[in-house]
Formats: sequence, structure tokens, C-alpha cells
Amino acid sequence: MKILGIETSCDETAVCLIEADGDFGADFRFNILGNGLASQAAIHAQYGGVYPNLAKREHQKNLVPMLEKALKESSELRVISVKKPIDPELSTLLQREPELLEKIVPFLEQHDMPDIDAIAVTVGPGLEPALWVGINFARALALAWEKPIVAVNHMEAHIMMSAMSDDHLSPLSFPLLSLLISGGHTELVLSREWMKYELIGQTRDDAAGEAFDKVARMLGLGYPGGPEIGRLAAESRMENQESSIKFTRPMLHEDNFDFSFSGLKNAVRIFVEKHSPLSDEMIHAIAREFEDTVTDVLIQKTLRAVDSYGVNTVVVGGGVSASPYIRKRLADALADEGNVANLLVPPQDLATDNAVMIALAGYFHALNKKYTDPALLTAMGNLRLA
Ligand code: KG4
Ligand code: ZN
Repeated sequence: MKILGIETSCDETAVCLIEADGDFGADFRFNILGNGLASQAAIHAQYGGVYPNLAKREHQKNLVPMLEKALKESSELRVISVKKPIDPELSTLLQREPELLEKIVPFLEQHDMPDIDAIAVTVGPGLEPALWVGINFARALALAWEKPIVAVNHMEAHIMMSAMSDDHLSPLSFPLLSLLISGGHTELVLSREWMKYELIGQTRDDAAGEAFDKVARMLGLGYPGGPEIGRLAAESRMENQESSIKFTRPMLHEDNFDFSFSGLKNAVRIFVEKHSPLSDEMIHAIAREFEDTVTDVLIQKTLRAVDSYGVNTVVVGGGVSASPYIRKRLADALADEGNVANLLVPPQDLATDNAVMIALAGYFHALNKKYTDPALLTAMGNLRLA
């Protein structure tokens, strides 16, 4: 089956085409035929976070070029000499996305239909104005090409991406625990079987990635904050054996699987205010201690859940899982404990938002014929896994 994936839940505009075969288990294989991704990070950098209406406009501008890139790489971009007529319904569909309409009309007029079986699109969670652009784009393509649409949960897609190694599924032994750490979410999700989810813990305020982004902003670093903080923290660790600052590890004393990062964020804010102007050395030290604090909490809560539920596989997913430091510390912690749980991480370049993961999740739902009537699709900013 060939699946076109579309992702616009936050600040990445992504379109990709994958080919996949087989059901869950050893016979599953997939191949990325073409992949387009446009990051808006530089645009949002000046705000220190994502500005929804700006994201919406950028998605409108970037979707068709990303579709072209994905199809071109897959050798599915075929120009036709006689212009194709456009369904008049298209302009009604895209009336809220005029800049997208302007781009999609000439594209559909001039190109042949690609050889695909279904269109998978993120419907949530995420920023609703941003999600709608992707949904309406998927509807427009479904109308033009007469293809079914699969609605995808962005968080399930992160889990599935992390469960892959190369072109196949890693061996998964259940119960499986997913630690989801992204810009909008910090969750521990238990799966007793494939594609079944129970939420066992979550953040009560800021998400881990959000805390990285906000602290980076306080320190005068760029957006997204995670990689910037990680870079300075690594430099600090190379220079000093010991951290010179100490922040309290939040929520460790509480006997649950929840997180909270806003207190830590405020502790950093107070510290920064007290010591301003910050020396370069101080900025490095704060970045390091902040990253250590977040990592300690993520690890402790994960280990506690592994223990409580007899977990056999730990999956870490979401943008923050791109952090080499967090990956290493988690792997060491699981090994140290003599834990049997196997740790799965996403490929480094597919840890942050992308359309490959959306197409993958879409494939498994398409296998079960879980299609959604295009007219019934809606953006669900707070869509949950369980
Ligand atoms: O999953 P993602 O791409 O988008 C959402 O679904 O939210 O996650 C983005 C988040 C941002 O907060 C970013 O700062 C963080 O992931 N991030 C990192 C790293 N790379 C991205 N955090 C820590 N270390 C990294 N290397
Ligand atoms: Zn994400």
C-alpha cells in the first residue's frame, strides 16, 4: 500500500509518501519513497515559541511545495500537457485557506494523479488553526484524486515511529511503556497490546519541550530551545565534573506518574533575575542543571512505571527524544537497574515532527479500513490517545 502522509500540527509542514506491506509483526516492511519537510523554526524564533496564525499561513504556503518534493523524489510527479478541469467544490473547501487554494489549483491542473492508496493526515493534538490547513489540504487531494482519508493521532504516530528500526518493526514485547516528550506533551502511556493505549501519567502544567523552549528564551538562546540547551549543557559537562547550581527535582516525592515543569521553569526565572547579567559560564551552568533536572525526573518516573507494570519494552518518542543526552541517560538507567526492558528510540532525524510517522500510523489504520468521511474530519487540538 502507498500512503501519503500530511503533518501540520505545529511548526513543521511535512508531506511524505511511504510504501508499506504486511501487518503488525515480523512481516511488516516500509520504505520512504519521498519526504518533504519545511521547518518554520526560524520564523517563530523571534517569538520564542509558535505563533498559531503565523504557522497557519506558513503551512498554506509550504504544503504544495512539500507535496511536489515528496512526489518528485518518489518519481510520482508527472506533468501533463493538457490542463485538467478542477472540481468547483475545491474553492469552497479551501475558502479559509486562500493562499493554499492559490497554489493547489495550478498544481492539480498540471499534474497527473500519483499512484497512492490513501491519504493520512494529523487531526490532533496540536494547534487547531494549523491542523485545519493540513485537514483541508487532505480533503482537497481526496476530492481531486478520489482517495480515502485516514485521520491520525500525532502522539500515536510518534510512538509508531519510535517502534521502527530501519525498514521494519523492532521486536515489541508487551506491556510496552511509551514516554512521550514533545513541545506540547509529556506523558507515560501503557500498551498491553499493539495500538491500545492507557494514559498512566502526564504533565500537570508545562510539557518538557515547552520548558526547554521557555528556559532557552530566558537564557537568550534560540528557538527551538531543546537543541540549544543540550549543546551548552554538553559543553559545561566537558569542562567541569560537578554542576555548580542545584534545582529541585519536581514531583519525585509524589507516588504517581505525573510530571510538572512550571515550578522548575520559575526556579530558573528567579535564578536568572537574581544573577543578571549572566556570564557565559553561568548560562552554561544553568542549561546543564536544567537539562539534568528534567532528565532525572523523566528517568525516575519511567523507571517507577516500568517497575509497577512489569514493562518489557520502553519506547521514547516526541521532539525531546532527539536529545542525545536524554537517550543515553535513559539507556544507562534501564541497564543499571538490571531491567529487562528494551529501550526503543526514533531515528535521530525522525524524532521531531515529520510526515513519515503520520503515514506509518495511517498505514496501520488503513489496514483495518479505518477511513473517515472527509466531511466529518475536524481538528482536535486536545485529542487524546486514551
Ligand atoms: O514532537 P515535536 O517536534 O513537536 C511537537 O509535537 O511538539 O517536539 C518539539 C520539541 C520542542 O520543544 C524542542 O525544543 C524539543 O522538541 N527538542 C529537543 C531537542 N530537539 C527538539 N529537546 C531537547 N533536546 C533536543 N535535542
Ligand atoms: Zn510532535
